Amino acid sequence: MDTTANTAGLGWLHTSVGRKVVMAVTGIFLMSFLVVHLAGNLLLLRGDGGAAFNAYADFMSTNPLIRVLEVLLFVGFVVHIYQGLYFISKERRFRPKGYTLHRPQDNTTIFSRTMRISAIVILVFLLVHLRHFFVEHRILGASLTMYESCKLAFENPFYSAFYVLSMILLAFHLAHGFHSSFQTLGLIVNRRIDRVVRWAGTAFAFLVPLGFAVIPLYFLFQTLY
Ligand code: HEM
Repeated sequence: MDTTANTAGLGWLHTSVGRKVVMAVTGIFLMSFLVVHLAGNLLLLRGDGGAAFNAYADFMSTNPLIRVLEVLLFVGFVVHIYQGLYFISKERRFRPKGYTLHRPQDNTTIFSRTMRISAIVILVFLLVHLRHFFVEHRILGASLTMYESCKLAFENPFYSAFYVLSMILLAFHLAHGFHSSFQTLGLIVNRRIDRVVRWAGTAFAFLVPLGFAVIPLYFLFQTLY
């Protein structure tokens, strides 16, 4: 429930504005994670049989500071998803019913209109992804190295296609989310900053998912040619 009246202390976090700020802050935190995650994953493409990537994965799974960051990361994901689901359910409840002249395409972009579907695809992707890599290695203690696990997974065309498709939806999500989070935090104070953030958001939304998508395609093409 929206407790708009209770804005004292941390109560404002439960208002619509507060919830949007939480989404923006966690969104920026998750975007910074994506950059670090991509940088580490690109080691898979070094052509050294996985030596560098396995050393990196080993470091990530044993370093105590990374353990703490990992907990923060999971909290960030859970809070971001929870708030997102709240806005989706609220929008459903208050959407006008029956005949209406409301034409969303007039003043929105395809990226903002597809935020719900892109969010759901990313959530499904995340569950499959964590089950395959995190749970398999960290909890069940897989016998393969992390590199072997990635190679085996991406040699499967269906699995690779799922990753590439998910990265396209991730690009859509970021294309709206990047600019939107800066706007929510009130950081876009003039047209010049608006242009810079829009430009940076477009570059980010294109390059980061592209970097992730190249990895499955690299392993898939190696098996085909
Ligand atoms: C080709 C693309 C990707 C590859 C090869 C990849 C690979 C991996 C691997 C090997 C792990 C396990 C790390 C470990 O346990 O030490 C992992 C964990 C994880 N990945 Fe990815 N990933 C990819 C894309 C993504 C994307 C796009 C997201 C977010 C939308 C994501 C989110 C996560 C999270 C949250 C974890 C668990 C956190 C952690 O272990 O530090 N991954 N990924």
